[in-house]
Amino acid sequence: MNDLMTASQKMDALEDKLMADLDNAIAVRSRLFLLAEGDFTMPNGAKLQQEHPGAKMLMSDDPRLPKMPDKPTLMDFFRLRLAPPMHLLQSARHAKVAGMPEHVVLACLLHDIAVLGFIRSDHGYWGAQMVEPYVTEEVTWAIRAHQALRFYPDESFGYAYPDNYKAYFGEDYQPEPHIERAYQEARAHKWYGTARMICVHDLYSFDPDVHVELEEFEDIVGRNFRQPDEGLGFDDSPSAHMWRTLRQPTKYL
Ligand SMILES: [Fe+2]
Ligand SMILES: [Fe+2]
Repeated sequence: MNDLMTASQKMDALEDKLMADLDNAIAVRSRLFLLAEGDFTMPNGAKLQQEHPGAKMLMSDDPRLPKMPDKPTLMDFFRLRLAPPMHLLQSARHAKVAGMPEHVVLACLLHDIAVLGFIRSDHGYWGAQMVEPYVTEEVTWAIRAHQALRFYPDESFGYAYPDNYKAYFGEDYQPEPHIERAYQEARAHKWYGTARMICVHDLYSFDPDVHVELEEFEDIVGRNFRQPDEGLGFDDSPSAHMWRTLRQPTKYL
């Protein structure tokens, strides 16, 4: 790896190295979860059958993870799959204390749901897709747009470029062209302010000493998130598969 590689090239190189390091016949890790903090290993089916005739591949809930109800709600996912969701709770609290309307508080509560439960890369896009069937178009749009807006200051909202980004990505980091295009598009959009508010309330939401209870947002979620009767993952919505993957991340197929 070197400094001239893009983030996705680095990720590919890292993944190639990891795949080469691992003996495929012993353990192939889920590509998604290589990128997350969990240590989930997945045996190779053919090899397992040779060594342990009759052994079955996991095709249901992983017993190492907290058991989920048959018809899980958003709150169940927060409690059982996104823990600890303190960054989201602090962000939503910050927006609420600032007197933001409920849809903005909800957008803050959900803005990094992909990072916490699914995948970091392009998390604004993944997160927006996950919640799209259940929230307003404006909330979905704002979550998607925060992916790009994070990298661009707007003093009129009191949003400066985050100091930690300079350390994380280098002083000279320039967002990729598609992010620049998304930013320009978002700036001209009628819901720009909603997405910008996610960034404003996000910045103050990494304090390890602030504890916020999930229950504080139960009412706002109840009024603003269309919980499917069948449970998230089982309602045949366009993003149901994403919720199922969160529930069963190590399912063999
Ligand atoms: Fe984010
Ligand atoms: Fe965030």
